Amino acid sequence: MDVLEAEFVASATALDQLPPPARAEIAFAGRSNVGKSSLINALCQRKKLVRTSSTPGCTRGINVFHLRLRVDEAEAELDLVDLPGYGFARRSKKERRSWGPLMEDFLSRRPGLRGVVVIVDARRGLEEDDEQLVDFLKHVGRRAIVVATKLDKVPKSKAKLAVQAVSEGARTRVVGFSATTGEGREAVWRSLLRAADVGA
Ligand code: GTP
Ligand code: MG
Repeated sequence: MDVLEAEFVASATALDQLPPPARAEIAFAGRSNVGKSSLINALCQRKKLVRTSSTPGCTRGINVFHLRLRVDEAEAELDLVDLPGYGFARRSKKERRSWGPLMEDFLSRRPGLRGVVVIVDARRGLEEDDEQLVDFLKHVGRRAIVVATKLDKVPKSKAKLAVQAVSEGARTRVVGFSATTGEGREAVWRSLLRAADVGA
């Protein structure tokens, strides 16, 4: 799996500001600061394609990136969509419970969306808003790909159990990942390509 090209396409704070979907899309959702943007950078093997920060709420609005890939000798195209994080502590309680209309609209109405990567912190496991998101995706008929990230922060002896715990909560297979070590990158890519029906 090689990423031949990765480029920023568009940023939007309302659904109608986005260009119409030109290719299969995979979106990345998760709590604020969990590592969505870092996962996208790691998948693309680019350090600064997407801005990341240790301050929660770094990604605002919806950002679309276009990728040209080489999968088993053949070329393929795919768009990755970085979504703003939810569960931001400084928001009001009511706001904290929902992911906001923008994300809800995008997830339920965007044509071309083939799957949504739900990223959770391997140390914290699946939290209430993550569970709500997984249920919401099922409700709107979107495929969820659950990734447990920051695995490098979990002692090696506990990594397997941590991923298993997320898997039980989400009632689906979970891929363990670390943006720091790159562990799980190939496994995440396989799930994405399968969901997007690209390449393989
Ligand atoms: P928002 O856009 O604010 O919602 O955050 P985000 O989910 O896009 O997180 P981002 O990728 O910006 O990462 C947040 C912080 O976590 C940064 O300081 C990253 O360096 C760090 N981080 C992300 N992934 C990993 C990981 O796998 N391991 C470790 N150790 N740190 C990580
Ligand atoms: Mg981000």
